[in-house]
Amino acid sequence: MIIQAVINVDLDGPRINRHVYGHFAEHLGRCVYGGFYVGEDSDIPHEGGIRLDVVDALRALDIPNLRWPGGCFADEYHWRDGIGPKDERPVMVNTHWGGVEENNHFGTHEFMALCELLGAEPYISGNVGSGTVREMSEWVEYLTRAGDSPMARLRAANGRSEPWPVRFWGLGNEAWGCGGNMTAEHYAQEARRYGTYCRDYGDNQLYKIAAGANADDYAWTESLMKQLGHLGCQHVRSTAFHAVSVHYYTVTGPTWEEKGSATVFDTGEYYTTMAAAARIEQLLAGHTAVLDCYDPNKSVGLVLDEWGTWFDVARGTNPGFLYQQNTLRDALVASVHFDVFHRHADRLVMANIAQTVNVLQAMILTDPDSKAMVLTPTYHVFRMNRGHQDATALRVDFRTALPSRPVGDATLTTVSMSASRKDGRLLVSLSNLDATAAADVEIDLRGGTAGDVAAVILTAVALQDHNTPQAPAVVAPRAYDGVTVDGGTLRVHLPAHAFVTVSAGL
Ligand code: AHR
Repeated sequence: MIIQAVINVDLDGPRINRHVYGHFAEHLGRCVYGGFYVGEDSDIPHEGGIRLDVVDALRALDIPNLRWPGGCFADEYHWRDGIGPKDERPVMVNTHWGGVEENNHFGTHEFMALCELLGAEPYISGNVGSGTVREMSEWVEYLTRAGDSPMARLRAANGRSEPWPVRFWGLGNEAWGCGGNMTAEHYAQEARRYGTYCRDYGDNQLYKIAAGANADDYAWTESLMKQLGHLGCQHVRSTAFHAVSVHYYTVTGPTWEEKGSATVFDTGEYYTTMAAAARIEQLLAGHTAVLDCYDPNKSVGLVLDEWGTWFDVARGTNPGFLYQQNTLRDALVASVHFDVFHRHADRLVMANIAQTVNVLQAMILTDPDSKAMVLTPTYHVFRMNRGHQDATALRVDFRTALPSRPVGDATLTTVSMSASRKDGRLLVSLSNLDATAAADVEIDLRGGTAGDVAAVILTAVALQDHNTPQAPAVVAPRAYDGVTVDGGTLRVHLPAHAFVTVSAGL
């Protein structure tokens, strides 16, 4: 059976905010230390201790923003410990992540230098759980205030006279858990209080993001929205915060203690993972529905600032470091998420995969012994999809039923698609999640004709395939010839377990 789809290439949907392709770097395991930052004495090529091969690889993704310093770490991080001469910075214990010592050598200046090297906007998560309003307020002043003020002088004394532009500001993290174990009502008040004292200096306008719900905790989102407006209110204008976040991880195993292996899994587990990933559609729709009740004009943003797969840590690694390999399965989890992000482009303003290097669903893995750097299958999905950033979303409708299969209590649709238009080109992303069966899609392009078609495929022999320093390109994109165009009809053959992008001139 051929799947018949329709894309009206001249009917504009909302803009896909480039920030939904955002990233996350926490002081956790080997994400910052050993991943991004190797220190100034390292023999790995670096700039000011920042690993340059990692930077170069990430620049190819056009990463729009980087969230830091956590995660749970953010709510025990005191920014003043991470400025000034490195040998005078205090050492602390990273109680959340392995109980290791944190020497604070990677602090505010190092993070901002990293963002400058990456060409990414910083997204800073302030400490609400164990910090103070004054501490957060002064961090904003330190970063963004020009001219003469106590924090601007301190910044200049530490070698940076000009302020940095910083837009994205998180008011804590997971306040329902590691960020302070607060009730929704209590945190909502705290978010207003902290947000009040995070000031705009000069031209720097903060976009403040309240720490949001865990997965389907819609009541948490409603508590936050009640702070901004009333049911049915048309105009939400708040200086306290501008967006609310939500976190959702794709977890396969039956319990948190048994999340399953990142590389050793059977087909049944694979489908369970994909069904868990596909749940993001229902979750974003649910949170959007709550926001729509309080903010029908869509002035408040939804931010999914942690998402991705979470498996058992790789055997022999520190359980607190959350190091896991990354297979073709992870790539398909990512591609399905992006289709959903594109469909929710009218509300979703940002998303951050957890995490960029060496932690959870990483783009890059670094080998502590050989020092080699490996690009993961997930990296390649970000690269193949980067043309959707800031593009106009195009609706994809189907004239035939999509293939599906039961997975536990859920039904998993096994073909996923999204499309956008930018600079006179169409970009269509297609995922076939079926482990064994190919699929054929015929797309009726209405309102335009396509030419100059180029397609790329990411697949592998087995779902469990992954890249290592010894075999870095087992899962790698290659040019694909399974696509034909005939006037306004685009035909795509999708092999089993494959991700394909098709770019065409319009
Ligand atoms: O990304 C790992 C952790 O997951 C983050 O620190 C926390 O916010 C979440 O629970």
